[in-house]
Amino acid sequence: MQKQVRVAVFPVAGRGTRFLPATKASPKEMLPVVDKPLIQYAVEEAIAAGATRLVFVTGASKRAIEDHFDKDAELERALEQNNKHELLDSVRDIVPEGVSCIYIRQGEPLGLGHAVLCAKPAVGDQPFFVHLADDLIYGDQPCLKEMAAYRAALDGSVSVLGVETVPPAQTGSYGIVDLQEGDSKSGGRIRFMVEKPEPDEAPSNLAVVGRYLLEPAIFEKLERTGKGAGGEIQLTDGIAAMLEEQPVHAMPFSGKRYDCGSKLGYLQATVELALAHPDLGGRFAEYLAARSD
Ligand code: UTP
Repeated sequence: MQKQVRVAVFPVAGRGTRFLPATKASPKEMLPVVDKPLIQYAVEEAIAAGATRLVFVTGASKRAIEDHFDKDAELERALEQNNKHELLDSVRDIVPEGVSCIYIRQGEPLGLGHAVLCAKPAVGDQPFFVHLADDLIYGDQPCLKEMAAYRAALDGSVSVLGVETVPPAQTGSYGIVDLQEGDSKSGGRIRFMVEKPEPDEAPSNLAVVGRYLLEPAIFEKLERTGKGAGGEIQLTDGIAAMLEEQPVHAMPFSGKRYDCGSKLGYLQATVELALAHPDLGGRFAEYLAARSD
């Protein structure tokens, strides 16, 4: 019997240099898209997929994230007194009952693989999600929920990675997988993967993006993983070692991904989510139309 996935890890200890100076004193995961910070979209997706323990791997200047998910009794009282009930619900319901938050410090940003390893004491011996909040995936189905369902249809201990087809010229920005079975539409078991290959060395153009469902065996692999691309301990290298011993699948997700770690992707997400916003969408569409006249 497979164990249900109840833990989600959010590595939020990166330097966010592409967004300086906005990220000098506040983490990139606190950048808002319309009216919620990126990390709140991430938490909502994980909770929709069944997570009840949220583990944040934080670095310097990450207090804002702890404060965001903490109760703010004074703010709630003020909203209540002013009859701002809708706003009150929006701050009260950020973390629903039965869901706990744990914060672990990554002393130095030594890489995503190292950040995930820091979460080991809070994860223990169970499968877990890893969610990179700067990859915002927007669609009808929460991506992590699709991944849990994909895994549930398979037998035994299987890890699943969210993948997307990228233009061949962009393989150098991603971990790229080679499938042993299946195709870019259905997904399937991965034969091997490589971090940031040049286009002429890439085995495919199926790229791993910021969604992972990992078996706990990854921790032992990460403990033995040395520095890789960019001098950092890479999660991809740990997964590459794990897939020699147990199945790791690639799953193409149905939503649209926005790379909110880059300014262009962040702006695209802002425009699309503003257009889809129930209160703002119509007026924003009118504004854009009038602007392009
Ligand atoms: P990125 O590769 O986007 O790096 O990290 P970054 O440092 O945050 O951003 P830039 O490139 O300097 O602009 C991918 C994810 O991994 C986390 C980041 O917070 C982000 O969610 N991360 C990365 C860590 O938690 N620790 C690390 O040591 C590195």
